[in-house]
Amino acid sequence: MGTGKSTVGPLLARSLDVPFVDTDALLEARFDAPLPSLLSRGEASFRSLERTVLEEQLADPSPRVVALGGGALLDRTVRLRLLARNTLCCLTASPDQLRARLQHDSSRPLLAGAPWALESLLQQRTEGYAEAHVLLPTDHQTPDQLAALLLGELARADLLVAAGSRSYPVRVEKDLCTIPTTLQHLEPTSILLVTDRNVAQHHEARWSGWLQGFPWEAMVLEPGESQKSPAVLLRLWERLQQVGMDRRGVVLAVGGGVVTDLGGLAAGTWLRGVRWVAVPSSLLGMVDAAIGGKTAVDLGAGKNVIGAFHQPSAVHMPVTLLHTEPERSFRSGLAEVIKTALVGDAGLLRLLEEEHEAVLRREPGVMARVVRASAAVKAGVVSRDEKEQGERRLLNLGHTVGHALEALGGYERWTHGEAVALGMGVALRLGERWKITEHGLAERVERLLALLGLPWRVDPGELKAMLPLLQHDKKREQGSLHYVLVKHPGEALTQKVAVRELAAALGAEG
Ligand SMILES: NC(=O)c1ccc[n+]([C@@H]2O[C@H](COP(=O)([O-])OP(=O)(O)OC[C@H]3O[C@@H](n4cnc5c(N)ncnc54)[C@H](O)[C@@H]3O)[C@@H](O)[C@H]2O)c1
Ligand SMILES: [Zn+2]
Repeated sequence: MGTGKSTVGPLLARSLDVPFVDTDALLEARFDAPLPSLLSRGEASFRSLERTVLEEQLADPSPRVVALGGGALLDRTVRLRLLARNTLCCLTASPDQLRARLQHDSSRPLLAGAPWALESLLQQRTEGYAEAHVLLPTDHQTPDQLAALLLGELARADLLVAAGSRSYPVRVEKDLCTIPTTLQHLEPTSILLVTDRNVAQHHEARWSGWLQGFPWEAMVLEPGESQKSPAVLLRLWERLQQVGMDRRGVVLAVGGGVVTDLGGLAAGTWLRGVRWVAVPSSLLGMVDAAIGGKTAVDLGAGKNVIGAFHQPSAVHMPVTLLHTEPERSFRSGLAEVIKTALVGDAGLLRLLEEEHEAVLRREPGVMARVVRASAAVKAGVVSRDEKEQGERRLLNLGHTVGHALEALGGYERWTHGEAVALGMGVALRLGERWKITEHGLAERVERLLALLGLPWRVDPGELKAMLPLLQHDKKREQGSLHYVLVKHPGEALTQKVAVRELAAALGAEG
């Protein structure tokens, strides 16, 4: 309230040539009473009226600019639903500005009373307001300037991982790269760029461009999973010490999942946590590893056992980085994309089917769409379940059997993605037999896997040999595990099954 949304909203709508809707005005019209009188019925009853109007707005897919009452998005589930399909811009102003703008406004009973009412209201809502695609301070801008800034933001239409004050944008970029803008915004006192030799070999020139004018140094690691070790983490800390990184420093991790996992953990532990920006360069990194703030190193055979949740400040995905990713690694990433489609986006599955040739050629236009759709599902899941207590588990589709196959092959026969492809196939066929998965989906996915050059059916002997390894599934609890099954493309569920039972069912499959 008082940030100017009823002035800026119509200006923006006019530039976009779409209608403007003000939910406060809608409320007044619908219930034929001015806001103060609606509010005087008590806040709870007011919120429920507001909710009705908001639900109608959410159900209407036509493009328009909507000004929302300040309390409309206090309910986090509603906010996340809105974030998933719309761009949310939050106009902010300092308490002094707000007070000046609101002092003659008698329609704000929430602010009546104690002089600190405004501060305490803002404080209550800070976490929620931070979960917006765009946060725009309005103190020193005219309405026209604000509308122009918002137009620019809309053109970019970022994805968002909503995590309260730790929320951050995910930018899928085809040509233009806005990493310098992100860094300017962070005002780092120093930057340590972490990457690996393969990525450096192809893309060093790019980041020299991004980092012009910033105080930065680079640390180039050897490539490969073996780098995800406490020893390498120690080297990173030593380097951060050498650089003299203080709390205002930034780690910029440019690479595959190995680099972002390591760089993120180094940032998360240095001085109890400094900021970091992820620039995934592999397909797996873009659609999976770099979103969600899980960072880790391995301890011998224990994969990812030392780690922390530490969300980045931003994730940038210039899809042209993918041009130089090794073929097998790129195709393995596609398995995770199919997994993501099965769990959360039927349209993405169709896109892959229709565009499989362009995907294999890594055409930037198609890859931007594929990466964006996939990253959107992951960002949504992480927003709803940051610490992996429920829904995030769905992303383990194909991973129970996949991990066991990877281990059986000594991590050499199959890449992670290939093993997940096989694991997905098993989950789909099992799901069909259990009458959970829609009939024909297993075959449809197998066809797609084959088109994309991925293994699509596990050898029965190998499946049998893998069964004893199921016992080691990390997500197991007292002899049971959460096995992920697909109902339809875009809709999955977890089923708690005893490992013994699952092994028996899989044995019968084999
Ligand atoms: N944090 C998470 O939530 C999460 C999720 C999934 C996977 N991971 C982790 O991610 C790692 C696997 O990621 P990955 O498959 O990206 O592995 P990776 O980082 O080892 O990259 C694969 C290979 O491709 C090379 N490469 C990457 N991008 C390139 C480019 N643009 N040009 C040329 N070469 C390039 C790398 O040097 C490497 O040799 C695993 O350690 C896994 O545990 C983490
Ligand atoms: Zn995976």
